[in-house]
Amino acid sequence: MEIKEAIKERHSVRQFKDIPIEKEKADRLTELIKECNEESGLNMQLMLDDPACFDTFLAHYGRFKNARNYIAIVGDKSKEDLDEIGGYYGEKIVLEAQMMGLNTCWVAGTYSKGKSRINAADGERIVCVIAIGYGENSGKPHRSKPVEKLCNVPEKDMPDWFREGLDAALLAPTAVNQQKFLISLEDGEPVISAKNSPLAKVDLGIVKYNFEAASGHKCR
Ligand SMILES: Cc1cc2nc3c(=O)[nH]c(=O)nc-3n(C[C@H](O)[C@H](O)[C@H](O)COP(=O)(O)O)c2cc1C
Repeated sequence: MEIKEAIKERHSVRQFKDIPIEKEKADRLTELIKECNEESGLNMQLMLDDPACFDTFLAHYGRFKNARNYIAIVGDKSKEDLDEIGGYYGEKIVLEAQMMGLNTCWVAGTYSKGKSRINAADGERIVCVIAIGYGENSGKPHRSKPVEKLCNVPEKDMPDWFREGLDAALLAPTAVNQQKFLISLEDGEPVISAKNSPLAKVDLGIVKYNFEAASGHKCR
């Protein structure tokens, strides 16, 4: 599966089958997380078999089932752009996982930091987690805002690569599907900004990763 296909096929999955992630896939995820941590300075962690993390009222209310594996997005709390970097590298892992046949769901609210086994040092902050496993289903496409609300470039002025990036950005997961971002083109460069809203910076990193992966152009 190619990355653009993974972007199209990825949807949030909250009900998982009661089967473990095979060692070979877990090892590949661990290796990828290690590389991403080295590149970003994050301390992301693959947590296998820790269902207590999702043993909360909100998780049940949110219809999570058999959620026991996840990736914890953790980093230095003094890093100003921690949320955005966490979103960016987390989405990279989400799409790789999709290509491995695994399903995911970003989770910032419906989990318990306290009950989980996540290792966060004093100077670190847990940004959020990403539930991962074999879904009972593959989720369904989210509703998107009209493209004019998310991008201020007229259709006729969009280079082909920009259109590809934009389509992938519209498919990106955002907290409560809020899509609080704006994509523009400045001096031929794609620029994505976040509106002021909770978790919008995590979303921004996610949206930038999708745009870059599909368009091959680095975003500002
Ligand atoms: C930063 C972030 C936090 C999220 N937190 C939660 C959460 O706490 N509980 C939940 O059920 N879904 C959560 N989601 C999933 C969103 O609701 C979902 O991505 C959005 O509705 C779009 O749907 P899709 O992922 O299927 O495209 C979160 C998504 C993001 C990006």
